This record gives sequence, structure tokens and C-alpha cells, in this order.
Amino acid sequence: MITLIAAAGQKNELGKDNDLLWHLPDDFKRFKSLTTGHYIIMGRKTFESFPKPLPNRTHVIITRSENYQAPDGCIVVNNIAKAIETCPKNETTFIIGGGEIYKQSIETADCIELTRVHHTFEADTFFPEIDLDKWELTKSEFHDMDEKHKYSFTFETYLKK
Ligand SMILES: NC(=O)c1ccc[n+]([C@@H]2O[C@H](COP(=O)([O-])OP(=O)(O)OC[C@H]3O[C@@H](n4cnc5c(N)ncnc54)[C@H](OP(=O)(O)O)[C@@H]3O)[C@@H](O)[C@H]2O)c1
Repeated sequence: MITLIAAAGQKNELGKDNDLLWHLPDDFKRFKSLTTGHYIIMGRKTFESFPKPLPNRTHVIITRSENYQAPDGCIVVNNIAKAIETCPKNETTFIIGGGEIYKQSIETADCIELTRVHHTFEADTFFPEIDLDKWELTKSEFHDMDEKHKYSFTFETYLKK
């Protein structure tokens, strides 16, 4: 199973200046609980947006560079097909971004775990449009804003039809 996992604003905004647009601790918690123990595939820019590799996950970094130096334990590949091939087939592999990688992998993915943030943002990176002829929304869980969450959001699960 290949799952894209992302958080996006009302207009599919993902990030700006290689950073996220919000701080939503319960979304981080969900991301952590879904991805821990698994392989996570990402573009080189998303990898470089982290201060250090995320604990307890195997990082597969996609770059066109032939000599990209990544920390020990990270796997570096030169295309998306190779990234998917590298991951175990009998468990869920997560594609964690960013925009370029989501766009190139949405056709091959089986599932999308999307956190829809109910606000619009100025952004330079966007999630691809989810085509509802191809994807079915199977689960939706609203989370209101509160003192720790400046915006309300909904956890949405889409499965490929
Ligand atoms: N809201 C969210 O859920 C979320 C999740 C992840 C990231 N983000 C945000 O998204 C932004 C980063 O996304 P992005 O679209 O700019 O970059 P990205 O998708 O993370 O990485 C792009 C890089 O991946 C490599 N790449 C892309 N396609 C490739 C291919 N077909 N073959 C080989 N390498 C390929 C290239 O690396 P080289 O240049 O090294 O060749 C390219 O520059 C940041 O703002 C980040 O904070 C948001």
C-alpha cells in the first residue's frame, strides 16, 4: 500500500520558503503515529526542511543529484520508481512530500491521508487536486480550533476507486 500523507490549506497550499504554513500539534501527532516504524519517501527539499531525520522511520530521499550526501541510515535514490522499489511490499509506505513528489506519485498511490486545514495561506507549493472521479473519501474527522490550534482542520482518508 502506498499512502500519500499531507496537510493542505483550502486551496491545496502546502508550504512556503521550504517551510510549513501552520503549527498544528495534533496533526504532527497523527503524522507521527501513522508513519513511525515505516519507510517514508520524500523529495530532497522536504528532507532538507527537517532539522534532522525523523526518529524511527527509514528515510528514502529522491534527488537528481548523483552524489547527494545524506546521514547514515537514509537511502538516496534518483527517481520515484526506485524509491517505491526500495520499500517493503508487505507494509504501508508513506510518501510525505513535498509538492513535486506528490504531483508525480498521486497516480500510483492507493491512499491519501490528508489533513485539510480550513484556512487560506500565501504559499509557493501546492498539493495536486484530488479528482473525486478517481478517489473516494472514506473517512472524515473534524478537529476544531482551540488554544493549541489556530485553525480548524479535518483528517480525511481517500482510497483509490
Ligand atoms: N504540508 C505538508 O504536508 C508538506 C509536506 C511535505 C513538504 N511540505 C512543504 O513542501 C515544500 C517542499 O516541496 P517542493 O515541491 O518544493 O520539493 P520536494 O518535492 O520536497 O523536493 C523536490 C526535489 O526532489 C527531487 N525530485 C523531484 N522530482 C524528481 C524526480 N522525478 N527524479 C529525481 N529527483 C526528483 C529534486 O531534488 P534535487 O533538486 O536534489 O535534484 C527536487 O528539487 C516545503 O515548503 C515543505 O515545507 C509540506
